Amino acid sequence: MGFFILIRKTKPKMLSFSSFLAIFIATFLLLHPSQAQLNATFYSTTCPNVSNIVTTVLQQALQSDPRIGASLIRLHFHDCFVQGCDGSILLDNNNNGTIQSEKDAAPNTNSTRGFDVVDNIKTAVENACPGVVSCADILALAAESSVSLAGGPSWSVLLGRRDSTTANQAGANTSIPAPFESLSNITAKFSAVGLNVTDLVALSGAHTFGRAQCRLFSNRLYNFSGTGQPDPTLNTTYLANLRQICPQNGSGFVVTNLDPTTPNAFDSNYFSNLQNNQGLLQSDQELFSTSGAPTISIVNLFSSNQSAFFQSFVQSMINMGNISPLVGSNGEIRANCRRVNGS
Ligand code: HEM
Ligand SMILES: *[C@@H]1O[C@H](CO)[C@@H](O)[C@H](O)[C@H]1NC(C)=O
Ligand SMILES: *[C@@H]1O[C@H](CO)[C@@H](O)[C@H](O)[C@H]1NC(C)=O
Ligand SMILES: *[C@@H]1O[C@H](CO)[C@@H](O)[C@H](O)[C@H]1NC(C)=O
Ligand SMILES: *[C@@H]1O[C@H](CO)[C@@H](O)[C@H](O)[C@H]1NC(C)=O
Ligand SMILES: *[C@@H]1O[C@H](CO)[C@@H](O)[C@H](O)[C@H]1NC(C)=O
Ligand SMILES: *[C@@H]1O[C@H](CO)[C@@H](O)[C@H](O)[C@H]1NC(C)=O
Ligand SMILES: *[C@@H]1O[C@H](CO)[C@@H](O)[C@H](O)[C@H]1NC(C)=O
Ligand SMILES: *[C@@H]1O[C@H](CO)[C@@H](O)[C@H](O)[C@H]1NC(C)=O
Ligand SMILES: *[C@@H]1O[C@H](CO)[C@@H](O)[C@H](O)[C@H]1NC(C)=O
Ligand SMILES: *[C@@H]1O[C@H](CO)[C@@H](O)[C@H](O)[C@H]1NC(C)=O
Ligand SMILES: *[C@@H]1O[C@H](CO)[C@@H](O)[C@H](O)[C@H]1NC(C)=O
Repeated sequence: MGFFILIRKTKPKMLSFSSFLAIFIATFLLLHPSQAQLNATFYSTTCPNVSNIVTTVLQQALQSDPRIGASLIRLHFHDCFVQGCDGSILLDNNNNGTIQSEKDAAPNTNSTRGFDVVDNIKTAVENACPGVVSCADILALAAESSVSLAGGPSWSVLLGRRDSTTANQAGANTSIPAPFESLSNITAKFSAVGLNVTDLVALSGAHTFGRAQCRLFSNRLYNFSGTGQPDPTLNTTYLANLRQICPQNGSGFVVTNLDPTTPNAFDSNYFSNLQNNQGLLQSDQELFSTSGAPTISIVNLFSSNQSAFFQSFVQSMINMGNISPLVGSNGEIRANCRRVNGS
């Protein structure tokens, strides 16, 4: 009897210990997934020169198109926000409709550019190290090189992403922020991929270079939100300039500089522009002009201290580049960035 009582008394303890073990193991597996992390030395033996190759092709492209670096970093952003940084944005439509290209999604159509330069980089990289470097990593490397060549910070890009075999056009339509959205909606879209308001403000600083089409901000110039008036947050001098570039009945496809002060340089002027009410997109100006927003003090910091901007920008690019990469044996190394292998 006493023996049984002993067993019955200790059994619950044994059970709770094994449940504890199970929970511990499950938690460990969740926090330490079997997939490896990205790292800066991923290609150090298999393609040690990849970074220089990317930069060389980019430098050539910049000679005929000073905007191309801006276009390439935007591709990395639009890649990462849709099922992670997996090169999905680079896939073209295929014959049977199983790939609906993200290039035709609302934020990308008639807007994203640089796909031919990505192809040129891929060709140069394949010539040096066939079948080794993913298209997703090429976008991450090209983004860093673009910033660095435009006078911004340099950093060690974390590598080891693999390429998707799928595209997600519906996801691209809904996950990528639009310039007409409210700050709270854009904050929510960043939060959905694990990026906070510091990341939002720092990464928006990429609008320190590149261009935007009239159709993406002209609502601010003439009849903002049905008021019959321009956006009241627009600097009146800047408004007059923009009305000349984007007349009411003109082509919405005309482009102008996102940063009117230093259009091709990567610097902190984007933030002083916001303080001067010279943000081009509604989504830009909202970071500074939304009453009580947590983004205002970050804009002020980055405007007054370019080093602080650069430091945060690098951290936030790494954060963005870490969004759900395919690693290990997931996905593939595409031979052609536009097509899934074997198709
Ligand atoms: C915060 C939300 C964002 C919105 C609403 C937004 C929206 C836009 C829009 C509407 C354009 C103009 C596109 C065109 O005229 O075809 C643009 C251009 C650009 N965006 Fe963003 N963007 C955002 C965040 C970012 C981020 C996170 C990056 C990169 C880190 C980025 C980099 C760029 C660059 C470099 C350009 C110029 C591209 C070129 O000249 O080809 N943007 N963005
Ligand atoms: C980088 O990641 C790869 C793949 O996970 C791994 O094989 C390699 O050991 C890592 N390198 C370092 C320095 O952590
Ligand atoms: C690395 O790439 C650069 C640029 O393409 C090239 O000039 C250089 O010769 C390459 N170095 C090696 C060791 O292959
Ligand atoms: C893209 O622009 C062309 C004109 O250049 C236009 O005909 C076409 O409808 C546009 N596509 C979309 C989806 O807006
Ligand atoms: C994405 O948006 C574009 C443009 O609005 C539309 O033509 C397309 O059908 C949408 N795709 C999906 C899968 O929702
Ligand atoms: C914000 O998101 C909500 C929910 O998706 C949507 O109904 C609303 O139209 C969005 N507002 C703006 C200004 O984009
Ligand atoms: C956002 O995350 C970064 C870490 O990447 C952290 O340093 C920063 O304080 C966070 N910002 C906010 C507003 O929570
Ligand atoms: C502005 O837009 C609103 C709503 O679309 C419209 O009712 C109004 O007539 C427009 N005003 C002017 C001056 O165009
Ligand atoms: C364009 O609109 C302006 C007024 O905004 C008008 O003076 C001009 O005649 C219009 N031009 C054309 C070609 O319709
Ligand atoms: C408008 O921009 C100019 C610089 O072009 C600046 O001096 C002025 O202070 C700005 N006005 C406002 C109200 O922000
Ligand atoms: C500017 O920011 C950098 C990086 O965060 C910091 O080290 C430096 O002290 C700041 N400078 C000033 C004047 O606050
Ligand atoms: C669709 O076409 C691709 C080649 O582009 C092929 O790999 C795939 O198996 C096809 N899928 C279906 C369902 O037919």
